Amino acid sequence: MPQFDETELTEAVVASFDETPDPRLKHLMRELVRSLHDYVRRTGLTFEEWQKAIDFLTRTGQKCTPSRQEFILLSDVLGVSMLVDAVNHRERDGATQTTVLGPFYVGEHKPMPNGTDISEGVEGERMYVQCRVVDLGGQPLAGVPVDVWHADDDGFYDSQKPSYAEAGPSLRAQFVTDAEGRFAFRTILPCSYPIPIDGPVGELILAAQRHPMRPAHVHFLVNAPGYEPLITHVFIEGDKYLESDVVFGVKDDLISSIELRNDAVMPDGRAAPGAWHLMSYEFRLKPGRGAAPRPMMAAAAE
Ligand code: BEZ
Ligand code: FE
Repeated sequence: MPQFDETELTEAVVASFDETPDPRLKHLMRELVRSLHDYVRRTGLTFEEWQKAIDFLTRTGQKCTPSRQEFILLSDVLGVSMLVDAVNHRERDGATQTTVLGPFYVGEHKPMPNGTDISEGVEGERMYVQCRVVDLGGQPLAGVPVDVWHADDDGFYDSQKPSYAEAGPSLRAQFVTDAEGRFAFRTILPCSYPIPIDGPVGELILAAQRHPMRPAHVHFLVNAPGYEPLITHVFIEGDKYLESDVVFGVKDDLISSIELRNDAVMPDGRAAPGAWHLMSYEFRLKPGRGAAPRPMMAAAAE
């Protein structure tokens, strides 16, 4: 008869998963129990703290909607998202570095012709983004769909705005690489922005006196058949939050120097609206398999 005390309880709970038919689920649950119990023992968790934690997690779930994922945000600020990313991308072999997907991969990424302005009607400094998708040997990859999305000049994603349902996507689209592996679009220069702090995750950030800022970036999801899906950002050099990103997502290779240009035409040969910025980046893909995640709102609609 086991004694359910501080020392024997853990192994009894671990053993309760012994008959789990799925070996991976069995392993994950046994390790989770060990880690959680260890945490409770090491901290001497009080009833009050345990109740607060339950309340926090309950409210985190209640804050979720089809277009808002407070649990992903929690995982992000605890560094868990970046750790899952790191353990799943140990060998890069020269491939482009990965980073967090973030909670704003939502809604529609409409296929658009190369050169499209995805910032129509949005205020901000103009930017031209030109990119190339290649394999590890530098050979271009043609016909590859690339989802792009970023925040506006005030730091908000389209899906965060009450008008999103009627207004539809803005500052997000899908482009397809041409025969030379290139894709390009016009947009505005994004700025650094705070993650949403009007929920439980925000409370936690404020209680810890951490700042809620992410450095300015554009998100890319490059999804080529026969290659590992690449989920990444390109960050803007010089941003003051590059070294203290609230979700720990910055890697040196993902920082790009943005050139300020005054040329009268942009690289697509069409007129430039005054001064503009140029972002250039090459994405190197690693052979592999695996489905890229699907935008949350699209999945929820099914
Ligand atoms: C983002 O870059 O969109 C993001 C990532 C993690 C948490 C919040 C926002
Ligand atoms: Fe972002």
